[in-house]
Amino acid sequence: MADMKLGVFDSGLGGLLIAKAIEDNRPDIDMVYLGDTLHVPYGKRSKDAIYDYSKHAIDYLFSEKDCQIVLTACNTVSAAALRTLQQTYLPDAYPDRRILGVVVPTLEEAISSGYKNIGIIATEYIVESDIYAAELKKLDPSFTIHQQATPLLVPLIENNGLKWVKPILEDYLEPLLKARVECLILGCTHYPHLMPILRDILGDQFPILSQVDIIPYKLNDYLQRHPVFDEKIGKNSTKEYLVTDITRGYKETALSIYNKEIEIRHVKP
Ligand code: DGL
Repeated sequence: MADMKLGVFDSGLGGLLIAKAIEDNRPDIDMVYLGDTLHVPYGKRSKDAIYDYSKHAIDYLFSEKDCQIVLTACNTVSAAALRTLQQTYLPDAYPDRRILGVVVPTLEEAISSGYKNIGIIATEYIVESDIYAAELKKLDPSFTIHQQATPLLVPLIENNGLKWVKPILEDYLEPLLKARVECLILGCTHYPHLMPILRDILGDQFPILSQVDIIPYKLNDYLQRHPVFDEKIGKNSTKEYLVTDITRGYKETALSIYNKEIEIRHVKP
C-alpha cells in the first residue's frame, strides 16, 4: 500500500509556524499543509460556518491527499468543530483515520508543568467558546484558568502592525497579571510572532507556553503511542503546501516563517 501522509490544517497561513516546527522536529514525515486562505479569519465566523469549512478541507486531505492523520493547528477549529468532526463525521467517513486538535495537548503541557493558575490570550471566539476552561475542568479541576480575549492581535499581525502591538498587549495582559497567573498560553496560531514583545513585557523568566514548542513533541508522543498510524505515514521527507486562495502577501508570510521560498499551490477542495 502507498504511503499515507500527515495533514496539517489551518484557517490560513498562521499554521505554517506549527508545520515548520513539526518539520524541524520530524523532517522525515511526509506532510501536506492546507491553509483555507479563502475563508480566513475563521475567528469571526459562525460555528456552523467553521464546521462546514473545516469539514470540507479535512475531507479533501483524507480523500485526495491520503492523510492518515489531520492535525488542526487552528485553535478556532479545535473549539468549534473538532469534537463533532471526531464523533459524527469521522466514524462514518474514515473510521481508521484520526483528527487531532491543539487545545487538549496544550493544557496537558500546562498541567504537567505544574502551574496551578494559568493565563491564556486568544481570539474572542476561543474565549467565548470557553473551550480551554471546559477541557481543563475535565483534565484536572484543581487548576484555574484566566482567559483574555485579544481581538486586535490577529489583524495587527496580519497587516504588518507589530510596531503598534506593545501598548495593546500590555493592556490585554494587565488583568491576567493582576490575577497572578503563573504561566501564559498563546491560544492562537498567530501569537508566536509576538514572542519578542511578550518577553519585553513579561521578562525572560516568565513561562510562556507556545504551541510551536508543544505540538511537535506532543505529536511525536502520539505517534509513538499509536504505532499502527505511525507505520502508515511515509517517511520520505515529502512536503506539500496548499492554499484555497492566493492572497496578497502569502509569499512574504511563508518566507518570514521558513526563511526560504517554499512552493505554495492553489487548490479548490
Ligand atoms: N488560526 C486561528 C486560531 O488559531 C486564528 C486566525 C483565524 O481567526 O482564522 O484560532
